Amino acid sequence: MNTTFSLGARPVSRLGYGAMQLAGPGVFGPPRDHNAALAVLRAAVAAGVNHIDTSDYYGPHVTNRLIREALHPYPDDLVLVTKIGARRGRGGAWLPARSAGDLRRAVHDNLRNLGLDVLEVVNLRIMFDSHGPAEGSIEAPLATLAGLRDAGLVKHIGLSNVTTAQVAEARAICEIVCVQNHYNLVHRGDDALVDELAAGGIAYVPFFPLGGFSPLQSSTLSAVAATLGATPMQVALAWLLHRSANILPIPGTSSPDHLRENIAAAEIALPDEAIAALDGLAAGE
Ligand SMILES: NC(=O)c1ccc[n+]([C@@H]2O[C@H](COP(=O)([O-])OP(=O)(O)OC[C@H]3O[C@@H](n4cnc5c(N)ncnc54)[C@H](OP(=O)(O)O)[C@@H]3O)[C@@H](O)[C@H]2O)c1
Repeated sequence: MNTTFSLGARPVSRLGYGAMQLAGPGVFGPPRDHNAALAVLRAAVAAGVNHIDTSDYYGPHVTNRLIREALHPYPDDLVLVTKIGARRGRGGAWLPARSAGDLRRAVHDNLRNLGLDVLEVVNLRIMFDSHGPAEGSIEAPLATLAGLRDAGLVKHIGLSNVTTAQVAEARAICEIVCVQNHYNLVHRGDDALVDELAAGGIAYVPFFPLGGFSPLQSSTLSAVAATLGATPMQVALAWLLHRSANILPIPGTSSPDHLRENIAAAEIALPDEAIAALDGLAAGE
C-alpha cells in the first residue's frame, strides 16, 4: 500500500491529523487543557504526521493559535491545510461567510494566526445547506479564492462539503488539489467521486473518518477488529487507507493514547475476508 500521496505540490503521509477536536466543547472556545492540546500536536508531528487539517473558525482562532504555539517554526515537510467559507456566531453557531470580503478576511486571519506568509492549501467550505452538500454554483467564491492564490497568499485550492457537480464546475475554473467531504466506512455517498478524483491525482480527505461526534459503532467492525487484534477505530482507518490511494484520513483526537492508536492503523493489513465484511457495511447506511 502507498504510504504517501501528493497534496498540492507536497508528498504527505496518508494518515494525517484533524485539529478540530482540540478546541473547546462544540468546537467553541479554548480547550479544557491548553498544555495537553499542545502535547497532542507535538506528538502527532513527532510520530510522522505531516498533514494537519485546521480552520480559523475552530474556536474560532483557537486551533490555529494552538498549532502555531506548538509547532512554529514549522518542520519543512509539514503541510497545514485550512478552510474558509464559514464563521461562528454568538454561542457557537456555524454560519456561512463566503462574500469576497469574508474570504479575504479569512485568508488574512489564517495567515496571522498560523504565523505564515502563504497558506499551502485552502479549502473553500461550501455551506448552502447545514445538513450536507447542496447544489448551486460556487463560481463566485471560488473566483475570489483563485484571486487570493494569484496574489500569492495561497498556494493551492481545495473544496469541502461539495457535490460532484460543484467539483466539476470548480475544476473548470482553477486547479483543485483536494476535496474534503463526509465519508467513512458507513457513509459512502462519495464512492464514485473518490474514484473520479483518484483518476485525476486529486486527494480525497474524508472528514468524520471515525464517525465524528458519534464515533462508529458496528458489530461487524468490532468482530473484524477482534480477529485482527486491533481496535474498531484502527480498522475503520485501515479500511479508508485500503479503499483508495488518494484517500488521506484526518482523524481527530485530543487524547495521546487515541493518537498513537490511530497512527498505528497505517500498519494494519486487512485480509480479503475482512475487506469483504467491511465493504458490506455500507448496505446498512
Ligand atoms: N470540512 C468539514 O466540513 C469538516 C467537518 C468536520 C470535521 N472536519 C475535519 O475532519 C477532522 C476529523 O473529524 P472529527 O475529528 O470531527 O471526527 P473523527 O476523526 O471521525 O472522530 C473524532 C472523535 O473520535 C474520537 N476518537 C478519535 N480517535 C479515537 C480512537 N482511537 N478510539 C476511540 N475514539 C477515538 C475522538 O475523541 P477523543 O478526543 O476522546 O479521542 C472524537 O470524539 C476534524 O478534526 C476536522 O479537522 C472537517
